[in-house]
Amino acid sequence: MQTKQTFIKRNGLIQIKELSKFYSNGQIRAVDDLSLTINQGETFGLLGPNGAGKTTTIRLLNGLIKPTHGSANINGYDILKDTQQVKRISGLLGESPGVHAKLSAYEFLEFMGALYGLKNLKTRINELLNFFDLSERKNDLIEGFSTGMRQKVLLAAAIIHDPEVIFLDEPTAGLDPRAARTVKELVKDLSKRGKTILISSHRLPVVEELCDRIGIIHQGQLIAIGTVTEILAQSQTQTLEEAFITITGGSPSSNLSPWRN
Ligand SMILES: Nc1ncnc2c1ncn2[C@@H]1O[C@H](COP(=O)(O)OP(=O)(O)O)[C@@H](O)[C@H]1O
Ligand SMILES: [Mg+2]
Repeated sequence: MQTKQTFIKRNGLIQIKELSKFYSNGQIRAVDDLSLTINQGETFGLLGPNGAGKTTTIRLLNGLIKPTHGSANINGYDILKDTQQVKRISGLLGESPGVHAKLSAYEFLEFMGALYGLKNLKTRINELLNFFDLSERKNDLIEGFSTGMRQKVLLAAAIIHDPEVIFLDEPTAGLDPRAARTVKELVKDLSKRGKTILISSHRLPVVEELCDRIGIIHQGQLIAIGTVTEILAQSQTQTLEEAFITITGGSPSSNLSPWRN
């Protein structure tokens, strides 16, 4: 299928057009005809229950898997054709990402920075370790780190090259409140510095606190989009949880709240 080159080239802009990813000969529609523009400097929350298609969307946008149909671009760079440029301008905290447990936090960040060909890494790494409160543990092996500490190292790695666009897939999953707070502070800090951030989460409070706009995704489809206020107005509900249940056609008693955990 020929894609029309009608995309605008602008830093931090993510344009998704009719993006689909099917598995099992089309029986599983992980992402189904998703069209969405995320603006420069916006923090956008992709909200949906487990299996909604959030991780698949993020993996598609990062070129880790190929779409069945459709296209997307970041800064005008096509996710399929301009993979190197896309990697250079975007940072990813993926779902269950690999970490080199036999390296120290410092070594891991040094390794990741080298992959991006960064110079003067020492200052940048120390700045990040300091921000994440990991300076005292920087020479310890990651294998001895708690989940929260590992997540912080992975976050530091995701932004080591100071990317314009940042993808965070369930960034607070498995974190205690204190570590989750650090992650949220980081997101706010990055947002203040004009970064475009796409966060996926099945947890309402996370997106509600951090995001300028929210897209509710269900069975691979975007079923509502807007600010929290707009979504509540559209669905005539008081809370985002009620809105989701109303929009997806379930009843409140059907226990449609997998994101509570
Ligand atoms: N590699 C794959 N093969 C088959 N099905 C997949 C694959 N990856 C994801 N899926 C399916 O696609 C749907 C969306 O998955 P995912 O994007 O991981 O959802 P979420 O991140 O919102 O929990 C699920 O039904 C999942 O089982
Ligand atoms: Mg996921």
